[in-house]
Amino acid sequence: MKLQPRHYLMCRPTYFTVEYVINPWMDPSVPVDNAATITQWEKLVETYQSLGHTVEFIDPLPGMPDMVFAANGATVIDGKVLGAQFRNVQRADEGPAYSAWFEDKGYPVQAPKHVNEGEGDFLVTENYVLAGTGFRTDPGGHAEAQEWFGRPVISLQLIDPRYYHLDTALFVLEGDQICYYPGAFSPGSQAVLARLFPEALLATAADAEAFGLNSVSDGLNVIVPPQATHLIGALKERGYNPIEVDLPELLKGGGGPKCCTLEIRK
Ligand code: ARG
Repeated sequence: MKLQPRHYLMCRPTYFTVEYVINPWMDPSVPVDNAATITQWEKLVETYQSLGHTVEFIDPLPGMPDMVFAANGATVIDGKVLGAQFRNVQRADEGPAYSAWFEDKGYPVQAPKHVNEGEGDFLVTENYVLAGTGFRTDPGGHAEAQEWFGRPVISLQLIDPRYYHLDTALFVLEGDQICYYPGAFSPGSQAVLARLFPEALLATAADAEAFGLNSVSDGLNVIVPPQATHLIGALKERGYNPIEVDLPELLKGGGGPKCCTLEIRK
């Protein structure tokens, strides 16, 4: 277990609402408390900063209520950026906005040719890029990522609409250590994960329902929703330091800590 200082990009939820439905967690008839959304999100930012991580910010755009979910904005590995192309028209303008942020800062940015929702569906371990498909990211996007990053991309089939992005079903602890909820994956993908990661920490259905697989690890500290009680215990047993951060307002959009966090990997 070794803490590695991280570099994150985040987007203030100034315009966050739930006004359309693109995943089963979203219900426009349930009101969102804007002030509470901001306070909860600020707690996440402050937690990262208190752990010594660097947080940068992209300006939120009016009319883009899901832009707070920065993980979807791009994928960054070895200082190279693969831009995002969203599945749903409601989020289409976020891709260019995130790409422009990276271009302004001088990062090489590859424009996407296929649908990919950034780190929502691409998660990076020591040796692999794990890539989700089934609901959002197109398998063509997996091939594109492999070519651009020059890393082996492992395609994984998501089968439960509640876990529509890979980062709602799996997170990387450190190196090639991962945690996942098997029930979110097809039988073949479960077998692939078991073969590549025999020591993985397996989360329960209740952990997944509590959005526990949307956690963020820096190699030691794991930002985790407090309702994922089994997972919190299992992390402690393995020597990690779970830090509970509750984001109930953003959960109404189908997002948790990881969704709000885009990692910039040098
Ligand atoms: N409402 C957003 C959507 O359905 C939530 C995105 C959550 N982001 C994530 N990385 N899982 O696209």
